[in-house]
Amino acid sequence: MTTTMRAVEYEGAGGPEVIRLVTRPRPEPGPDEVLVKVTAAGLNRADVQQRRGVYPPPPGAPDIPGLEVSGTVAAIGRDVSGWEVGASVCALLSGGGYADYVVVPVGQLLRVPMGIGLVEAASLPEVACTVWSNLFMTAGVTAGDWVLIHGGAGGIGTMATQMVAAFGGRPVVTAGSAEKLEYCRGFGAVAGIDYREEDFVERMREITDGHGADVVLDVVGASYLERNIRALAIGGRLVVIGLQGGARAELNLGLLMSRRASVTGTTLRARPAVEKAQIVAEVTEHVWPLVEAGTLRTAVEARYPLEQVVEAHEHFDSGRHTGKILLTM
Ligand SMILES: NC(=O)c1ccc[n+]([C@@H]2O[C@H](COP(=O)([O-])OP(=O)(O)OC[C@H]3O[C@@H](n4cnc5c(N)ncnc54)[C@H](OP(=O)(O)O)[C@@H]3O)[C@@H](O)[C@H]2O)c1
Repeated sequence: MTTTMRAVEYEGAGGPEVIRLVTRPRPEPGPDEVLVKVTAAGLNRADVQQRRGVYPPPPGAPDIPGLEVSGTVAAIGRDVSGWEVGASVCALLSGGGYADYVVVPVGQLLRVPMGIGLVEAASLPEVACTVWSNLFMTAGVTAGDWVLIHGGAGGIGTMATQMVAAFGGRPVVTAGSAEKLEYCRGFGAVAGIDYREEDFVERMREITDGHGADVVLDVVGASYLERNIRALAIGGRLVVIGLQGGARAELNLGLLMSRRASVTGTTLRARPAVEKAQIVAEVTEHVWPLVEAGTLRTAVEARYPLEQVVEAHEHFDSGRHTGKILLTM
């Protein structure tokens, strides 16, 4: 095995022009870690936010971007059991995925679901873990729930829609065009709202016969806070996972009380390894069988070789994508 590898770094903060493909030392796995030879890495909005300088890696995480990969186990730490060199895996990371090799805490490794190719497996860990932890572990989505999913055509949105439907909930999505809403219906959305043309609070009341959303999965943040609470049913739960519309807003507590509603927010990346391992274990138990049965599909729109990482980010920045974009090593 070589002692160096290709990796992506950001030189300063800004647009895709700050992206550099460099040579770095190949990392060594610690006692509880596995070295993965990366086959593909998924792009996530966090990678773009890090590039723009507004979402630095948490303490101890690599500065190399990349929150999810697929690949093969290349070396195993002293205390690791249950995995073998050569095994096909995918992994949830706190960084480091845009490289030929990455070290992964063993609790964040997942097998590649049967029937899924090694490249497309890179599209699954971040979205599956984010959706499972927020909608099912935190918001407790159950059969019959109306779930409003903002950004239904994105990487998170396509998986959230499918998982809500698979567990008997009723996913309603927002998206920014009629074409994207049509795409969302293919993943099981029972209704779609064009957020550029329609008032999602009003439409959610109409779609649910006045009931409202039992759960809202929000990727917009401040600019949607009041409307999200207005869209909730009595006892509804708003889960904020993205801040594309800002981080600071005024909260009408009277509205919250009258709905007996709750608001939570999480970031997956900064959670301690032990919590990530718990999420990964639950995803392996509850979500992977649905992927293997074909109930949940991957949603890969484009693949770029690592040398074209700038083009991959330009594609992501354009906002015209649906589903996931991957880098292949
Ligand atoms: N907290 C966490 O742990 C965590 C983990 C993973 C991701 N996230 C967040 O989840 C979000 C989605 O991530 P992703 O990787 O799936 O990115 P993505 O594929 O680029 O999706 C972004 C989505 O946001 C939608 N959007 C933008 N402005 C909107 C608005 N005003 N109203 C409704 N939807 C709007 C876009 O919809 P259109 O394309 O239709 O315009 C798009 O579907 C990001 O904000 C990301 O930071 C959070």
